[in-house]
Amino acid sequence: MQTYRAAVIGCSRMGAFIDNERVGHLAFEVANYLAQNFPVSHAASFFAEERTDLIACSDLRTEVMAEFGKRYNVPAERQYTDYREMLENEQPDIVSVATQPEQRAEVVIYAAEHGVKAIYAEKAMAASMDEADAMVEAVERNGVAFNLGTNRRWDTGFDKMKEIIDSGELGALRTLIIYGNGSLFNTASHNFDLILRLNNDEPASWVSAHLPEGDNIIDGNIVREDPSGQGIIQFSNGVTAHALLAQLGWEAICERGSVTSSRDGVMWQVRRQNRLEPFPIFERTSSGANIVTDLVHALDTGEPTRGGVRVAHASTELIFAFMESHLRNGARVDLPLKGSKLCLQRDRGPRQPRFKP
Ligand SMILES: NC(=O)c1ccc[n+]([C@@H]2O[C@H](COP(=O)([O-])OP(=O)(O)OC[C@H]3O[C@@H](n4cnc5c(N)ncnc54)[C@H](O)[C@@H]3O)[C@@H](O)[C@H]2O)c1
Repeated sequence: MQTYRAAVIGCSRMGAFIDNERVGHLAFEVANYLAQNFPVSHAASFFAEERTDLIACSDLRTEVMAEFGKRYNVPAERQYTDYREMLENEQPDIVSVATQPEQRAEVVIYAAEHGVKAIYAEKAMAASMDEADAMVEAVERNGVAFNLGTNRRWDTGFDKMKEIIDSGELGALRTLIIYGNGSLFNTASHNFDLILRLNNDEPASWVSAHLPEGDNIIDGNIVREDPSGQGIIQFSNGVTAHALLAQLGWEAICERGSVTSSRDGVMWQVRRQNRLEPFPIFERTSSGANIVTDLVHALDTGEPTRGGVRVAHASTELIFAFMESHLRNGARVDLPLKGSKLCLQRDRGPRQPRFKP
């Protein structure tokens, strides 16, 4: 069977070394215990997938690439400080873009325009809606398979949660609760994608939101830090989502019961009428590896991925709609979002990856 040539752009934590931070993390340890070889980072996921060869990498930091090379067998001559040169010389089929969101759009658009067939882009998708729009245009025009790193869309626990909701045995879905929405680009990007998936990617019709630190963070159109945000999302099919700033966890409330996930997918519960029931047993796998397998499947078959660039755009729109609503004192902001010129521009350097567990 054909193997695909993969390359990582942005070789730091999520690109390559976050696996070393997860040792001791409860969800990871449980999953790793139950599913051997549990990759988290992009590089580890390509390394584990037998249909992909990790052949090259690019980062602005040569010392980070040197460690990447040792860990993932990428020789020095295939480590590039200029991702354009890497794309030209190495012609990868699949590219990861694990930079920060401020550097995402430029790289994704360039890769889509220069022969890459599939892109695994980290969340948050982009630093502005103009950038997100341009990414959709470039990815679709070039027929590139695309997945955003919103892992829970490829997590078997949430697949099971969705299966229970979709079965209708608890009645129709009414309300979704995000208990810990967190900062909009870093954490809510995951949460918004998850509720979209649990609600079958139905479009949202409006949001109303409050950002506790928003007034200090948003300066004209410049968003100087990643703001936390709480609020309401109304979907066009009548489902309402509430995003709180409490602890990590999610709940789907249906007419005759609910499904709850807490401790980041470690604890699950089904409530039927007023009776608590155990959550069905499911096979735990690596969501990162599943994202890569999904891209490989799309390249093999031409079928769409589970994510896709439109779905990525929809969750990104919710991030920007939350900020726009805050700026309008919590007023309802209608979707599709029009005319947002907000742009994330943090004054910060790259983070230091942990090279050893
Ligand atoms: N899906 C998840 O669970 C998860 C977890 C952690 C981080 N993330 C996301 O992954 C992304 C990266 O996070 P991180 O903590 O690894 O960030 P980081 O700051 O540690 O790493 C970003 C890397 O990109 C490199 N870079 C910047 N511009 C570049 C360019 N033009 N060409 C090549 N390399 C370039 C930097 O040098 C740096 O090494 C963020 O968007 C973050 O939200 C996702």
